Amino acid sequence: MRFSVALLEIITKDNPRLRLKARRVPKVDDSVRRLMDDMVETMLDAPGVGLAANQVDVQLRVIVMKVDNQLYTLANPEVVRTSGEQIGLEGCLSVPGFVGEVARADRVTIKALNRNGKEVRIKGEGLLARAILHEIDHLDGVLFIDRLTSIDTLRPVAVGSEEEATEEDEAVTLAV
Ligand code: NI
Repeated sequence: MRFSVALLEIITKDNPRLRLKARRVPKVDDSVRRLMDDMVETMLDAPGVGLAANQVDVQLRVIVMKVDNQLYTLANPEVVRTSGEQIGLEGCLSVPGFVGEVARADRVTIKALNRNGKEVRIKGEGLLARAILHEIDHLDGVLFIDRLTSIDTLRPVAVGSEEEATEEDEAVTLAV
C-alpha cells in the first residue's frame, strides 16, 4: 500500500514517445487511480492546468485537469460534440518555454470514465474546452505546435521568471 503520491517526469517534444497514440484503459482500477493521483501532483507541481498520461510516458488514455478550481481525473475521454470557435494562446508542459496561437472549439461535450469507473459527461467552454481538447490531442500524439494558426505566432516565454508571472499570466494559465 502506498501512502504518498509521486512526481513523475514530464517528457518533452523531442521524445518520439510523445507521438504515440495511447491505449484505452480497460478498467479503472487502483493502479489507474494511483496514476491519476501522481499525474495531478505532477501537474500542480509543474504548474499546469492539464496533463495527459503519455506526457509522463504512460501510454494510457488518462487525462487530468484543474480548471476554475475544479479537478478532473478522467479515463478514455471522447468528444461527443463541439461548437463555436476560440482563438488564443496555448502552451504545453511538453513544449516548455513556448506559447502559440491555436484555434479550438469554444464549447465541447465529452464522455469519459471518472476515477470510480463510472461514465460521466462533461461540458466545457472557454479555457476548460481548450484544456480538454488539448489533452485529448495528446492521447492521439498531437501537440499544439501541430495546430498553430501560423508558425509566426509561436514565441518564447521565460519559464519561471518573475516577468512571466506578471506579463505572461495568460500563457502560464494555459500551460496544458
Ligand atoms: Ni500539453
